[in-house]
Amino acid sequence: MSAAPVYSLSAVDGPPDPELVRIRDLIYQVAGIFHPDTKLRLLFDRCARRMKELKVSSLREYFTCLTLEPTRQTELIALLNEITIGETCFFRCQPQLDAVRQIILPKIVAAKARLPIRRLRIWSAGCSTGEEPYTLSMLMQEESQQPHDWTTEIFATDLNERSLAHARNATYSAYSTRHVTPLYQQRYFGPVGEELQVQPMVRKCVSFTRLNLSDDDRMTSMKAMDLIFCCNVLIYFDLTSKRRVIEHFYKNLLPHGYLFLGQTESLYHVNDQFRLIHFPGATAYVRNDHSEAGGQGS
Ligand SMILES: C[S@@+](CC[C@H](N)C(=O)[O-])C[C@H]1O[C@@H](n2cnc3c(N)ncnc32)[C@H](O)[C@@H]1O
Repeated sequence: MSAAPVYSLSAVDGPPDPELVRIRDLIYQVAGIFHPDTKLRLLFDRCARRMKELKVSSLREYFTCLTLEPTRQTELIALLNEITIGETCFFRCQPQLDAVRQIILPKIVAAKARLPIRRLRIWSAGCSTGEEPYTLSMLMQEESQQPHDWTTEIFATDLNERSLAHARNATYSAYSTRHVTPLYQQRYFGPVGEELQVQPMVRKCVSFTRLNLSDDDRMTSMKAMDLIFCCNVLIYFDLTSKRRVIEHFYKNLLPHGYLFLGQTESLYHVNDQFRLIHFPGATAYVRNDHSEAGGQGS
């Protein structure tokens, strides 16, 4: 490997550099994330950061790092950490949370009431730095006065290891917590310097794991979910990889369960095994064989 890296933007001016296209295709194959030609400059910038770190001067050499042992696995993870965008915050979509609390949870509790094990399983798929699963955990804490003999398991997964490390540390800036009410701040957070740390009672039912939504074997293992949140994640996927993920979600979700996507996302032309349900200010998907749908079906 040469010691003096030289980065030429010509790699993305004019016809795309074939090595950059190979990296784009590799990322797509591994993680389902697709960079159209208009986003190749962004991909180049991310690769350039890694190349600088590795003191590698050409995309060809960098492609070798991404594909050959002994660097292959660690470098792929490092590049995916650079590529994935983790914009999130606590209480990002209040109408979704209101729908869960006021309409969906009572229905799920009723549907599972006769089962010997009273357990709710929630999956935050693409959880980024943890604000979404911790928000759901706080919501469940608020509800816990009611079904007090129920346990809640929140499975929080993401591809980005750096984000997951932040999530496990559970300490957040004023920006991340800007939608948290003073009451919730007082109840569920403690101060750590200038920041706020989520209290152990909220953290204890959330587990964080690295999971690639394009890994079919791992996706098959995520069974029997009552709620799946996959918000603002599939926007980076093309139709083919989106369809694969949603097919898994169909199998991962219990028949009475609900799937939430981001507010601008939809399954229109993606999968017809789900039906859209409307709530005030929010929507969710249920399986077509879902018998007790809350809200108004469309
Ligand atoms: C914009 S954040 C969404 C965070 C949160 N769900 C929300 O709506 O606030 C998108 C997350 O999806 C994750 N992601 C992207 N591709 C993924 C993949 N193939 N498998 C797992 N997570 C992925 C990214 O690492 C990032 O943390």
